[in-house]
Amino acid sequence: MDKNFFITTPIYYPSGNPHMGHAYSSIIADVIARFKRLDGYNVEFLTGTDEHGLKIQRAAEEKGLDPKKFCDELSKTFRNLSKTLNLSNTDFIRTTEDRHIKSVQNLWKILEKKNQIYLSKYSGWYSVSDEAFYSEDEIKEENGVNISTISGSKVEWVEEESYFFKLSEWENKLLKFYEENPKFILPDTRRNEVLSFVKSGLKDLSVSRKSFSWGIKVPSNKDHVIYVWLDALTNYISALNYPNTEDKLYKSYWPANLHLIGKDILRFHAVYWPAFLMAANIPLPKRVYGHGWILSGDEKMSKSKGNILDPLEIIDKYGLDPLRYYLLKEVSFGNDGNISKDKLENCINSDLANNYGNLCQRILSFAEKNCSSEVPIHEFNNDDLTILNSMNDLNKIRSFID
Ligand code: ME8
Ligand code: MG
Repeated sequence: MDKNFFITTPIYYPSGNPHMGHAYSSIIADVIARFKRLDGYNVEFLTGTDEHGLKIQRAAEEKGLDPKKFCDELSKTFRNLSKTLNLSNTDFIRTTEDRHIKSVQNLWKILEKKNQIYLSKYSGWYSVSDEAFYSEDEIKEENGVNISTISGSKVEWVEEESYFFKLSEWENKLLKFYEENPKFILPDTRRNEVLSFVKSGLKDLSVSRKSFSWGIKVPSNKDHVIYVWLDALTNYISALNYPNTEDKLYKSYWPANLHLIGKDILRFHAVYWPAFLMAANIPLPKRVYGHGWILSGDEKMSKSKGNILDPLEIIDKYGLDPLRYYLLKEVSFGNDGNISKDKLENCINSDLANNYGNLCQRILSFAEKNCSSEVPIHEFNNDDLTILNSMNDLNKIRSFID
C-alpha cells in the first residue's frame, strides 16, 4: 500500500498581512497532515505565497515599492505565521523562486508543443481582486459599478492581445473524469456547482497578459506574462521538483492526495488545473476539497472588506492551541462559520477549561490516588461527553480522507 501522502494549502497572495481565513485553511491542513503521520504515512505538506500578477503589482505600487521587494517582506509574514501556527509543513514555496519559474515555463512549453495554446485577442471582464475572467452573464451593475455575481468583486474591461488555452476541448473529458472519480471534488454541493459550470459550456481561457510586466514571461514572447493562475497552480508540482519527473519527491508524492482550498477558488482547482494537467499529460490530483468561509457578521472575512480578525493578536492574547481547537470546533467542516472573540472566550472557558480541564483533573487525581492498585476505571459524566462530542468534529474532518 502507498504510504505517502501529499497535502497542500492554497498559496496565499502576499498583498497584505495574513488573516484568520488564511490561518483557518492552514490549520485544517495541518490537522490532516498530523492525522496522516499518526496513521503511519510519510506526509509532504506544502504551503506558500502567490506573488505575481496585477493584484500584487498594484499593491506594491500603492506602497511605492518594487514588487519583488514588497513580496519579500510580506511573504516573510506568511512564513512566520506558519511557524506561529505550529504548522508541520515540509516546504514553503514562493512563486518568485527559480525552481517555480523554471517549472511554469516548462509546462507552458509543453502546452504549446501539444498545440493547446494560440495567440488571439481577449476582450471581456476581469477582476483584479480575484485575478479572474468573468463572462457577461456573471456581471451585474451595482451603484454604477460593475461587479462579479460570483465573487461580488469589482471588474474592469480588458481588451488586449492574449494567448489562449484550448479549455473548450476539455469539457467532455473533464465531465468524464468527474463521473469516474466521484470524490474528486468534495463536499458534494461544491461538486454539483462545478458540474453545472462545466456543463454550461467552457470557453477557451486567456492565459497571458500584455499590459503589465509583473509575472513569469512567456518563453517564446517576452511581451507577455503568463496568467497568474496558470503560474500559481503549478506551484504544486514545482515544489516536487517538476519538470524532473524522475526526482524522488515527484515520484513519491505526485499526484497530490489533497488540495485543500476555500470554496472561492474551486473553479481554478477543479476545472482549470485538471484541464492544464490533462493537456500536458500529467496525472491529476486525487482530491480537491473546498471548505467554507469564515464569516464576520454575514460577510466573508477578507482584506478587501476590512473585517479582519488578526490571528497573531488572538494567539498573543489567548494562546495557539485554544485558537486551533476553537476554529475546528466552531466551523462545521465544509460550511461557512461565524467566529468572534466572545465565542472564542466562551469556548475556552466552557470546553477547554471547564470540561476538558476538569476531565483531565479528575482522571489525573484519580490515577494518582490509585496508582498502587490496578488500572483505574473512570466513569465519564455529561461534561466529559460534551468534550468528547466536540472531538467528533475532528473525526468528521478525518472521515473524508481515504
Ligand atoms: O486565492 N474563510 O489567495 P488568497 C476561510 N493566491 N478561508 C479563507 C478566507 C475566509 N474568510 N479568506 C481566505 C488566492 N481564505 C490565490 C490562491 S492557489 C494555487 C492560489 C483562505 O490570499 C481560503 O483557503 O486570496 C482561500 O481559498 C484562500 O485563503 C485564498 O487566499
Ligand atoms: Mg482572495
